[in-house]
Amino acid sequence: MDHFLYRDGILHAEDVPLPEIAAEVGTPFYVYSAATLTRHYRLFEEALRGLPHLVCYAMKANSNLAVLKLLGDLGAGMDVVSGGEYARARAAGVPGERIVFSGVGKTREEMRLALECGIRQINVESEPELLALSGVAASMGLRAPVALRVNPDVDAKTHAKIATGKAENKFGIPIARAPAIYAEAAALPGIEVVGIDVHIGSQLTDLAPFEAAYRKVADLAQALLAAGHPIRRLDLGGGLGIPYVRDNAAPPLPLEWGEVIRRTVGHLGLEVEIEPGRLIAGNAGLLVASVIWLKRGEGRDFLILDAAMNDLVRPAMYDAWHDIVPVIEPAPGAERAPFDVVGPVCETGDTFARGRLLPPLAEGALVAFRSAGAYGAVMASEYNSRPLVPEVLVRGHDMAVIRRRPTFDEMLNRDTIPEWL
Ligand code: LLP
Repeated sequence: MDHFLYRDGILHAEDVPLPEIAAEVGTPFYVYSAATLTRHYRLFEEALRGLPHLVCYAMKANSNLAVLKLLGDLGAGMDVVSGGEYARARAAGVPGERIVFSGVGKTREEMRLALECGIRQINVESEPELLALSGVAASMGLRAPVALRVNPDVDAKTHAKIATGKAENKFGIPIARAPAIYAEAAALPGIEVVGIDVHIGSQLTDLAPFEAAYRKVADLAQALLAAGHPIRRLDLGGGLGIPYVRDNAAPPLPLEWGEVIRRTVGHLGLEVEIEPGRLIAGNAGLLVASVIWLKRGEGRDFLILDAAMNDLVRPAMYDAWHDIVPVIEPAPGAERAPFDVVGPVCETGDTFARGRLLPPLAEGALVAFRSAGAYGAVMASEYNSRPLVPEVLVRGHDMAVIRRRPTFDEMLNRDTIPEWL
């Protein structure tokens, strides 16, 4: 189900024609569909129905306050990885008891902030972090609710830059060492052990690595419970992939992932937390851009857009594929020709696609990148002093700018020239 469809030959976000948004905010811009965000969140709720659970949206995928408010109002918890994300979750109205704090390098300041303002659980990834957290919590007269993130040494079979579950990755505590560290945690004054955490990577399109990891976690949970540790939750991370390439076989559905969860840990009767990000936000967003020039090159033609790698870095960073579609539907049978689709940034890496087959597109034509709602706007920068790309949320006929494009003055005013220069 997709809420970005052609109607009368014009691509819409729900009931709003994209050219209307372009006329109002200019290009490039991100646009999100509230209906899609809602639907995707509910898929996870359905997948875990009957199990005690909390879906903690991994807000690193898309942390616009409006997106967080929408999901928080549906009952979502949040998985945060920095003080800034924690502040966003709270600003969007999500209570501390629904916020899980993940990440391999939390600072003492971040620990203090979370403990002071309320936190459901802190996922600890190393011994030094455990000791530091105990110290911070004890100094506040508290015990921090902790799950230890274990590294199950499972190959997630995804892009190397986003695989996290192999022993060689920086994440988590080697699962074989976990019993010893749980014993250590039990003796610390500022720690209250509540669970086990695992996350093996992102954009997984095969359920087998999840199954392997969750089985190891289930065994560990049983061993820890037998040793008297008060394990009551399992945080099983996120990582379920989305279909970026429309014609390929679709990755497994949340329901199928839920079955793996039931099969591997369901019998333990523990509360389950999951941290999906990409699947909730990815296909709920488009990046819309305009064609600046069509440039005939040596043996290849370039479509130069007003969006660039600073607005959507995934192709440059992970060689990621995003479908690129014209906003005005091409006539049936329109001829397609190969284009290198590029942005205006001054490096060759600023290439969205090579030899992509596209219908004829004139200067000024609008194109949309699909599957851009996750890890799009959040990874944008102002490289080449291109103002941060704005974001729009649509719900039915309603649209709202949820982050506007900064003016040049706003961008420049963040810098300071020392008076001694
Ligand atoms: N939990 C933890 C601890 C994570 O590190 C991540 C993602 C998630 C949950 C959510 O995973 P998801 O359900 O979104 O796959 N920038 C990259 C993706 C980085 C993912 C980092 N961690 C990209 O654009 O592909």
